[in-house]
Amino acid sequence: MSILEQLRSRFERALVIAYGETVEDRADVMLVPASNPRFGDYQCNVAMSLTKALKDNPRTIATQIVQHLEISDICEDPEIAGPGFINLKLKPDYLEAQLNSMVGDRRMGIAPTNAPEKVIVDFSSPNIAKEMHVGHLRSTIIGDCIARILEFQGHDVLRLNHVGDWGTQFGMLITYLREAYPDALTTADALDLGDLVNFYRQAKVRFDQDPDFKETARKEVVRLQAGAEDSRRAWQLLCDQSRREFQVIYDLLDVQLTERGESFYNPLLLGVIADLEQTGLLVESDGAQCVFLEGFTNKDGEPLPLIVQKSDGGYNYATTDLAAVRYRINQDQAVKIIYITDAGQANHFTQVWQVAQKAGWIPETVELIHVPFGLVLGEDGKKLKTRSGDTVRLRELLDEAVNRARADLENRLAEEGRSESAEFIEHVAQIVGMSAVKYADLSQNRTSNYSFSFDKMLSLQGNTAPYLLYAYVRIQGISRKGKIDFEQLGTGAKIHLQAEPELILARHLLQFDLIIDEVATELLPNRLCQYLFELSQKFNQFYDQCPVLKAEIPQRISRLGLCDLTAKTLKLGLSLLGISVLERM
Ligand code: ARG
Repeated sequence: MSILEQLRSRFERALVIAYGETVEDRADVMLVPASNPRFGDYQCNVAMSLTKALKDNPRTIATQIVQHLEISDICEDPEIAGPGFINLKLKPDYLEAQLNSMVGDRRMGIAPTNAPEKVIVDFSSPNIAKEMHVGHLRSTIIGDCIARILEFQGHDVLRLNHVGDWGTQFGMLITYLREAYPDALTTADALDLGDLVNFYRQAKVRFDQDPDFKETARKEVVRLQAGAEDSRRAWQLLCDQSRREFQVIYDLLDVQLTERGESFYNPLLLGVIADLEQTGLLVESDGAQCVFLEGFTNKDGEPLPLIVQKSDGGYNYATTDLAAVRYRINQDQAVKIIYITDAGQANHFTQVWQVAQKAGWIPETVELIHVPFGLVLGEDGKKLKTRSGDTVRLRELLDEAVNRARADLENRLAEEGRSESAEFIEHVAQIVGMSAVKYADLSQNRTSNYSFSFDKMLSLQGNTAPYLLYAYVRIQGISRKGKIDFEQLGTGAKIHLQAEPELILARHLLQFDLIIDEVATELLPNRLCQYLFELSQKFNQFYDQCPVLKAEIPQRISRLGLCDLTAKTLKLGLSLLGISVLERM
């Protein structure tokens, strides 16, 4: 049982004794970490919430609860403050016992859930032949982190890459290549397709300028979606090419995904339309098949339709998502489906889900969640662009992060007069570069826009990946310097808390489980970043104020134990962000 769970059950018992079973049913004990450490570690706000039900003032209720509360083995005497907050401070003995039980546990005392769920995280999802842009980078980094956290909790997570491999871009691209490089559509590698994006741009120019081209391209999509052999072959070649390019990025970021693109659902689209027809939701409007939505109107205040089949018979993004949500519920048996895209797609999901809901496809047990995120801005506060105004290529952006990390490292080595092998430099530059990019993204509240700055993200100061990595390295340095093998400290390492910085660090270490729960519920990775940042700060304060290797036994062993728990928590926490640690840097 976590600390919070233990405290919660003690409060529930006190409530029952004080006010009888019925109160307990009505009240959530409202136990939360203290808003200010001066008030203690936790606070219970239940007294305020019970004033109506019990027709009494909250301070009296708080006093009643405290009278029946048995927690002297965990906390100091509770204090009632303000209108009726009950403040709790953990006892050092209890802190010590908790920490000692964490030593040697790779999960830092966090048990896997006893109610594992099938969860789908739909993330990354770039569009084939189009640019994989920084928005997809955000989705990839945030989605991977959320998937890692749910996996750690013990859920059965399916990581789906819903790539856009079925849209109108293929009509354009195939029509263009058929004209300009016909061989490219029949023979693999007939043309170096390394720059599909450039072909796409040229095709788009033709599409926008030439009405005949536009018409042919539109027909081409319909042919492809109807399964014409030559179109399918061309499409396959283009997809393979894009897939190889995306894989380079996923390898660099160390992200695993199962590709299940839009095309996967093609055979199911007919069924979607037929079933919508059956439920009576389908309405023809200007030749297109639509479902009218509630809560969405056009400029003139008329109800807005969601088009599910265009007048030319073609299907669209929404149709695919309707098929996907059904498949995920019925075939994958997912009970939670999390979609990670930019905030601009919020309406799309609300609309698709509304239609699926109306059609009766979403059982009550299933939760659909959109996890929106803001834009990536340049340092000028505008949408991130290259100097020439083009979209930033992800590959180049990641390479630059590594190059800058390498340059920083080489400067530092020169300053410190250190010499290191080429492999060491390469390894450190890779890890620092990738983690800086990931951490800069994850440490922001995802709902806001954030500005991308290599200088900031690579700085050794502040809330950055290098700062956290360095805290870990510092601890590994202690073990090297003192020739200490943390694994050998074992359970003999009795932690005994004396100095204030030790207590502060200990309290923070014990909140890790709470943070993991919070991140999993609110799907906000920045909470975990903030926690790890504070952990590093608290460790640094402890290490600056409390001698470790110079302390006498048994204090030395105890402090080494604290160092070890900090390192393991950092390592685990960073791994949940998709960041690997370094032993030296
Ligand atoms: N391909 C889309 C885009 O680039 C994202 C897909 C998100 N997932 C979904 N099931 N619609 O914007």
